[in-house]
Amino acid sequence: MNLVMIGTGYVGLTTGVGFASLGHNVACVDVNAEKIAQLDMGKVPFYEPGVQDALTMVQEQGKIVFTTDLKSVIGGADIIMLAVGTPSTRTGEANLEYLFSAAEQVGSLLDHEAVIVTKSTVPVGTNRLVLEKVRKGMSEAGRAELTSLINIVSLPEFLREGTAFEDFHNPDRVVIGADDEIAAQTVAKLHEGLDAPHVITKLESAELIKYAANALLATKISFINEIANLAERVGADVRDVAEGIGLDKRIGPHFLRAGVGYGGSCFPKDVSALAQLGGAKGYTFKLLSSVIEVNNRQREIFFKRILDELGGVKGRRIAVWGLAFKPDTDDIRESAGVDIAQRLHAHGADLAVYDPQAMNNTRRVLSDHVEFTTTAMDAARGAEALIVLTEWPEFKEVSFEMLRENMVGQHIFDGRNHFADMDLHKRGFCYQGVGLGTCAS
Ligand code: NAD
Ligand code: UGA
Repeated sequence: MNLVMIGTGYVGLTTGVGFASLGHNVACVDVNAEKIAQLDMGKVPFYEPGVQDALTMVQEQGKIVFTTDLKSVIGGADIIMLAVGTPSTRTGEANLEYLFSAAEQVGSLLDHEAVIVTKSTVPVGTNRLVLEKVRKGMSEAGRAELTSLINIVSLPEFLREGTAFEDFHNPDRVVIGADDEIAAQTVAKLHEGLDAPHVITKLESAELIKYAANALLATKISFINEIANLAERVGADVRDVAEGIGLDKRIGPHFLRAGVGYGGSCFPKDVSALAQLGGAKGYTFKLLSSVIEVNNRQREIFFKRILDELGGVKGRRIAVWGLAFKPDTDDIRESAGVDIAQRLHAHGADLAVYDPQAMNNTRRVLSDHVEFTTTAMDAARGAEALIVLTEWPEFKEVSFEMLRENMVGQHIFDGRNHFADMDLHKRGFCYQGVGLGTCAS
């Protein structure tokens, strides 16, 4: 099939390359000319394991092209997929301006039968609006008679950053929302070669499935974080509690890692958008307000602990390890690492930061007065405290003996419980995770 993918971000590029690797002909379009130029030269503009090798392969096979010019590739398209960003507005709703703008561009150029697919995460009702915009654009361009040949399919994406390419090839399910059965089958056919159950449903259900999935995962995280806070007060270890409840098949072991809370480009915005959607429909989604509140509070609690334990941070050298919102990505959107670093800086800390992949992105948002180091150990050298905010595997590989010698202070505050099983208190540190108990030096 001929697929046009609009938007070459984490989702558009990964799935575009994925569909090309299944044998489809893919044309990726983006308004960002710099990104397209890089991609055209075979370089993935962000860090996502597996995507670079797969891109090289499909480019060599001639299965994928990149352009900023939608007009040049829309001609033969069977499917036009929209994977542009839908970030939060200031009031927490999904900002649909990029999506609608892309839909209008498609409408102004489309002159043949095609299925429009929304891959971006969008509030319930948006797919119908996208279809309206495409058809309106076609009518305005003098092609009203063709509008009945255009259908819309909601195809929400469930991949995770850091494992995006693997997730593309091994999805738990493919959710296809459509009014038109043939359009749904066309999109089902696009996925031939992937072994996953298909959930074929109404547009509205598909749209709601995406938000419900993210909101439930975020709820699990906020729940275990509340258990962690309680565990500290009663002398329990949240990791054992998580294991003990997670072995119950009805609960499951996933998304029960306590810490400094969830971040990233999706959970914060999607939980908030679902709560807003409820409000707009006259329904107060009480649970979600608490999920958001608990997540925000989790960062506050963590930061306050640092201030309390150290007796303030003004003028004191503090090291931060981990700026990406999770390991195996360079994405810092809504990252706890960047947030805590900004708070420390605002409180006058002399800050040194390190992340294996997210340094370039972080340089754009952190003050010039922050020191960016080239190794984790360099950041920790001379530090009174070390704050761990992303569970990168390489952090476990440092020599803790050398770390102890290089640090001036002994405090490690671990927002991901990454070192929780390493007996750091026996190695001369005052180690504090989340939900594990108090400092034992
Ligand atoms: P992103 O910001 O990384 O990429 C979006 C891309 O769209 C950018 O390159 C931008 O230049 C491009 N764009 C914007 N307007 C355009 C237009 N009119 N024409 C062509 N290109 C245009 O976003 P992302 O993280 O890939 O997310 C995309 C969507 O997928 C969002 O709705 C998000 O919620 C959803 N989603 C993301 C993830 C994830 O892990 N990142 C997972 C599942 C779903
Ligand atoms: C998440 C979902 O897992 C994907 O299914 C979804 O497609 C995506 O959002 C999206 O809609 O964009 P992602 O944000 O890439 O994927 O990463 P996750 O692995 O879900 O982690 C999100 C955040 O939760 C991270 O900050 C992570 O550190 C935190 N987290 C995760 C916890 O604090 N505890 C956990 O047990 C799991």
